[in-house]
Amino acid sequence: MSVEAIRPSDEDAVREGYDRWAAVYDRDGNPLQALDDVHTPRAVGDVSGLRVVELGCGTGRHTLRLAAAGAAVTAVDFSEGMLAEARSKPGADRANFVQHDLSKPLPFENGSFDLVFSALVLEHLADLDGFFAECARVVRHGGRVVVSAMHPAMFLRGAQARFTDPDSGEKVMPGSYDHGVGAMVMAVVRAGLTLEAVGEYTPDAELATRVVRAEKHIGWPMLVVIQARRLA
Ligand SMILES: C[S@@+](CC[C@H](N)C(=O)[O-])C[C@H]1O[C@@H](n2cnc3c(N)ncnc32)[C@H](O)[C@@H]1O
Repeated sequence: MSVEAIRPSDEDAVREGYDRWAAVYDRDGNPLQALDDVHTPRAVGDVSGLRVVELGCGTGRHTLRLAAAGAAVTAVDFSEGMLAEARSKPGADRANFVQHDLSKPLPFENGSFDLVFSALVLEHLADLDGFFAECARVVRHGGRVVVSAMHPAMFLRGAQARFTDPDSGEKVMPGSYDHGVGAMVMAVVRAGLTLEAVGEYTPDAELATRVVRAEKHIGWPMLVVIQARRLA
């Protein structure tokens, strides 16, 4: 697949879109988040005692779980609206939230973290090589990088990150790039990371009983989860 924007995308449009989405992000019955909740924590595994950086933390869906599981979490996002939601939640005081644009170098020293983690952010980033190079730089030797993303099959079906503004009823698409799985994997390899696993996941009937919007996606790949390691 190409890395052409499905909808012309720039950082300002994405940030402004998520500032608006923040108020309803946790409550709009998003099937991709539900599928990610099932598979991504399994890929992450035990984080107790680990220094973790989460890139594109949003409203802290994973951040608070990681902190509650005993990780020292630094959580990065550029949307003040999403960060405000995250900071307002019980347990948020256990994480260190940093406002930063991921299209720029991360404000962390080399090898600062045992785990670099990111969920459902890749579609908003034009430069996958730059993103994974920064992941490789800030993870310690022997540390892991775990990244989930919307599966490109969703783009072929006309789906991309979007929400309905509850005030205006407007359908808002912050802006996405339809990166293929190959582009994601090759960016990991070019960053010098060792690929350990790539999982592709579909919602099933059980998920659809919990999240109605998953029904039309049963059997279609919705989620990619990449696991890599920085070997010395
Ligand atoms: C779909 S949300 C995912 C949030 C959270 N990781 C989750 O799984 O619920 C994408 C997040 O990435 C953030 N994001 C997108 N592009 C970014 C960039 N260039 N720099 C920092 N954050 C970015 C957005 O603000 C938003 O919070």
